[in-house]
Amino acid sequence: MKQFIENLPKAELHLHIEGSFEPELMFEIAKRNNIDIPYNSVQEIEKAYQFNCLQDFLNIYYQGASVLIKEADFYDLTYSYLKKCAAQNVRHTEIMFDPQTHTERGVAFETVINGIANACADANEKLGVSSLLIMSYLRHLSEESAFKTLQQSLPFKAKIKAVGLDSSEKGNPPSKFKAVFEASIKEGYVPLAHAGEEGDADYVWEAIDGLKIKRIDHGNNALQDEKLVTEIVARDLALTVCPLSNTALQVVKDLKKHPLKKMMDLGLKITINSDDPAYFGGQVNANYIAVQEALNLSKQELYELAKNSFQYSLLEKNEKKKYIEALDTFYQQEK
Ligand code: ADE
Ligand code: ZN
Repeated sequence: MKQFIENLPKAELHLHIEGSFEPELMFEIAKRNNIDIPYNSVQEIEKAYQFNCLQDFLNIYYQGASVLIKEADFYDLTYSYLKKCAAQNVRHTEIMFDPQTHTERGVAFETVINGIANACADANEKLGVSSLLIMSYLRHLSEESAFKTLQQSLPFKAKIKAVGLDSSEKGNPPSKFKAVFEASIKEGYVPLAHAGEEGDADYVWEAIDGLKIKRIDHGNNALQDEKLVTEIVARDLALTVCPLSNTALQVVKDLKKHPLKKMMDLGLKITINSDDPAYFGGQVNANYIAVQEALNLSKQELYELAKNSFQYSLLEKNEKKKYIEALDTFYQQEK
């Protein structure tokens, strides 16, 4: 099964580039930028990564991201993640980045987007991994700040496919961002959002009805509301589920109790993702392996999850078809 998962062609649809920041690279970049970080060793960092909830994690995640200053930092961070994609048979990835985490510290929007986008272009050429970018608004900040970010993004529109909504969910409902999502859609961005990770089902309703999102990041708490599940299935909206993130942030106490299989049985379209792999103990393949073991998933179910990752990506129809054909060829040989 492990080998099957490792060789399975797949896409990753829920990945925060700032959450892919491995301790070794963090030390290297902090050093070259002359920034002190409050850890002396990789072991100390790993010890600090114990979380009781989303906010515990976010505090450490924003602190880690604060050593990123120059375009080369964003380039190195992104290229390092894309190399891991290539090694895991991740053929396509949709990368979230949080501009406000950087612009609020005085780093130019341009620095962030150019570093990330150049790494994506190089990886496409050299590693054969394709990618699209999702600009995520931070929901703990104001809608006005999100509007400012939207304005800053416009000269770089060709490099950005979608907008997202992330950070502290509870107390920051999707409705807070209704106007900026409307404006983002008008600019041609595809609307996506985190919903139902810690927030209740009503946040998922707000995200699908109010923000008109095309894919739900996490969505675990949609299961609280039968009518909502029926609606998500009817609208054919996929959920980007992140198993190791869920246990690390105590959204799910034990992987054996993870609702992923139940979600699939209810007809929901599920994909498997790593969210913030440097913080949650595993890349995308580790997530597949962990849920396969915990929930005893079959090869057929793993195939379906991988197929969803292409089908519910933001790629054009013919691109999806190309990737799914490669997956089908693999599956016919290996099932
Ligand atoms: N930012 C990075 N990871 C996140 C998560 N899992 N939920 C909300 N915001 C995030
Ligand atoms: Zn996330």
